[in-house]
Amino acid sequence: MSETIISRAVDIIKLNDLGTYTVPTHGLYPFQWNWDSCLTALALVYFDEDRAWTEIETLFDHQWDDGMVPHIIFHKEDDGYFPGPDVWGTGRSTPTSGITQPPVAGFAIARIFSRCKDQAKAEKRARALLHKVLAWHEWCYRCRDPKDTGLVAIIHPWETGRDNSVDWDEPFEKVPTDGVLPFVRRDTQHADPSHRPTQEQYLRYIWLVQTFKALDWDNEKLHDASPFQMVDPGFNAILLRSISEVAKLAEDLGEVEIAQKSRAQLEKGLAAMETLWNDDLGQFMCLDRITTQLSNSPSVAGLLAIFAPISVKFSQRITSRIEKIAQQTTYLVASHDPSEPEFDGKRYWRGPVWLIINYMICDGLINAGLQDLADKIEEHSLGLINSSGFAEYYDPITGEPCGGEHFTWTAAMVIEFLSSTKSAT
Ligand code: DGY
Repeated sequence: MSETIISRAVDIIKLNDLGTYTVPTHGLYPFQWNWDSCLTALALVYFDEDRAWTEIETLFDHQWDDGMVPHIIFHKEDDGYFPGPDVWGTGRSTPTSGITQPPVAGFAIARIFSRCKDQAKAEKRARALLHKVLAWHEWCYRCRDPKDTGLVAIIHPWETGRDNSVDWDEPFEKVPTDGVLPFVRRDTQHADPSHRPTQEQYLRYIWLVQTFKALDWDNEKLHDASPFQMVDPGFNAILLRSISEVAKLAEDLGEVEIAQKSRAQLEKGLAAMETLWNDDLGQFMCLDRITTQLSNSPSVAGLLAIFAPISVKFSQRITSRIEKIAQQTTYLVASHDPSEPEFDGKRYWRGPVWLIINYMICDGLINAGLQDLADKIEEHSLGLINSSGFAEYYDPITGEPCGGEHFTWTAAMVIEFLSSTKSAT
């Protein structure tokens, strides 16, 4: 049975494989997306080691000189997506967007390396990538933590991947909509509009893009110029987990300087994460860097924090939060607390279950020795595949498939769940 599911998952990845990179799904997302690629490479390694490395190398071929790795690489023209290269106007020979995405590459590289049978080849490719990943991590702190707090801010919701999370409702009020040039959305032509962000949110997304473009995408200026500066525990946890994996791998490969720099980033970042903890709720929260207030919005970002090597006292409380959410849904883990009025089980990041999030939470639980809950989340994830196919995301109560179909990273996570040895790293 699991073999049939794995072969269906492999077929989906092959369907979306354009040779040197994968698209998340044809139509809705016709280019290379940053964290989609890194998480997909985790599955590619099981059937083609060389192809797994290529996926990540292709992404890093488009790293900016300042170290940023963009969130979209527009490898070829496709007018089925908005906002395309002209709206971004980043002036690169192969166009890219001008913002980043959760830096999961360091984690992916270490995990792929550990699974490669051809260790000699893997070492060469991992070593080259480690230098580039370090440059990206350094960019995160230099350009998105200019006051050196140990916490990285995002300046556009798309940088977290959680585009329309309830987390952004209040801070988004500070983002104006005047001067936004007329546009036609393409996402709502590919997916059910009631599963997607609203038009009001799109106006603000595009206002930010236009504002950053007017500043020539100069990352020395963008953070301070943005009216939207949010410290997201999910983004920071992914960064810290990647940093910790980079530190270990760099040590193993004798890359002493990379290891030392990464250890220092990790220590500072983990200490700073603690300031995002809400002890009443028992989870981490977003911080609005402009108002300096912690948010009241209990989203999955604060649970995803378990992906980072946080201390056991936090992991245990996060486990209790997830158990509580389990009582209100059929499938774990809802992207927003179902008891909140803003919860919407079908609308993108306002409630639906995402398999990549489930996978990262499971991995964190396993590392913290909390195997039972990890097993339950895996069971729910595979249950969704059996009942609803390889969708982009799912309603946590009905299990209905939502968003795009034949989704690459959903397929990749299924392969990961069914093939990994479940050993803690
Ligand atoms: C989209 O277009 O929906 C993406 O999430 C932006 O990266």
